[in-house]
Amino acid sequence: METGPDSLFVTLLFLLHSSHSESEKFEVLGPTDPIVVVAGDDIILPCYLKPNISAEDMTVDWLNLDFLDGRVYRYQNRKIIQDNQITSYTGRTSLFEEELWRGNTSLKLTRVQGTDEGLYKCFIKAKSWDHDLIIQVLVKAVGSKPVVSIEGHREGGMGLLCESEGWHPQPELVWLDSKGDRLSAGPPETHRDFKGFYKVKQHVIVQETDTNRFTCRVQQSRINEKMETNVHLPSELFDTTPWRITSIVLCCLVAVTVIGSALTIYRIRNKKGNVAMI
Ligand SMILES: *[C@@H]1O[C@H](CO)[C@@H](O)[C@H](O)[C@H]1NC(C)=O
Ligand SMILES: *[C@@H]1O[C@H](CO)[C@@H](O)[C@H](O)[C@H]1NC(C)=O
Repeated sequence: METGPDSLFVTLLFLLHSSHSESEKFEVLGPTDPIVVVAGDDIILPCYLKPNISAEDMTVDWLNLDFLDGRVYRYQNRKIIQDNQITSYTGRTSLFEEELWRGNTSLKLTRVQGTDEGLYKCFIKAKSWDHDLIIQVLVKAVGSKPVVSIEGHREGGMGLLCESEGWHPQPELVWLDSKGDRLSAGPPETHRDFKGFYKVKQHVIVQETDTNRFTCRVQQSRINEKMETNVHLPSELFDTTPWRITSIVLCCLVAVTVIGSALTIYRIRNKKGNVAMI
């Protein structure tokens, strides 16, 4: 037969080609539910190939879709590519390189911070095939116990300031009276630091009440957390009559003077005592 060798050759080529592209086909799998992580922890974002073929010669890209430019991580030509990495991820990301041969392309992220929240894409590219997976990461951070400071007499009441920091996501700050009713306060001020954690503060002017107890509460409903600080103001603080203020100030001055003199006398005596002993 004249056509024998030719058709055999074509068949072989076809088989080789199809088996090659078959072997390159894969799916990228991982968690479908959001991953909730606590700020400061180290986490693994799971991602793997099915079937579990080797990813050693593929490109593995990890992206945070909230960032328009840059990547979280890239592995390509069997090397880690640092160019174009989003600066907030510097030194905090790695793959399990010893796991790549069995299709495990999970990302390790250390010391999680607020800016890490977002949608991550695990994108795997072989020569003639690619596939990806999207994972949602939610970052949780409970901030500091609120700090309340007394700012002095303001518009016929007493000015107070409440501050709390280290939150994620952004919390809400409320001022409450002793019955738990909300007080009307100044505009809330929010600041986000470079790691993506929120600091909140708010001024309030309180009037004298039966109890003079007030509460500053900072709460975050998504993570179901709150922190609060209670303050009790002595009623003398609200007194603005000049003679009362003067007498309080005088009182303190006298006290300071008395203590000061007592100390001086004590020191002189001590010295004399020492001299006498020598
Ligand atoms: C790949 O998957 C198969 C079946 O799912 C399993 O038996 C095998 O142990 C896996 N290989 C590796 C290297 O993990
Ligand atoms: C990938 O490797 C990491 C580190 O050894 C491991 O924790 C994780 O379970 C692995 N994932 C899969 C799908 O094998």
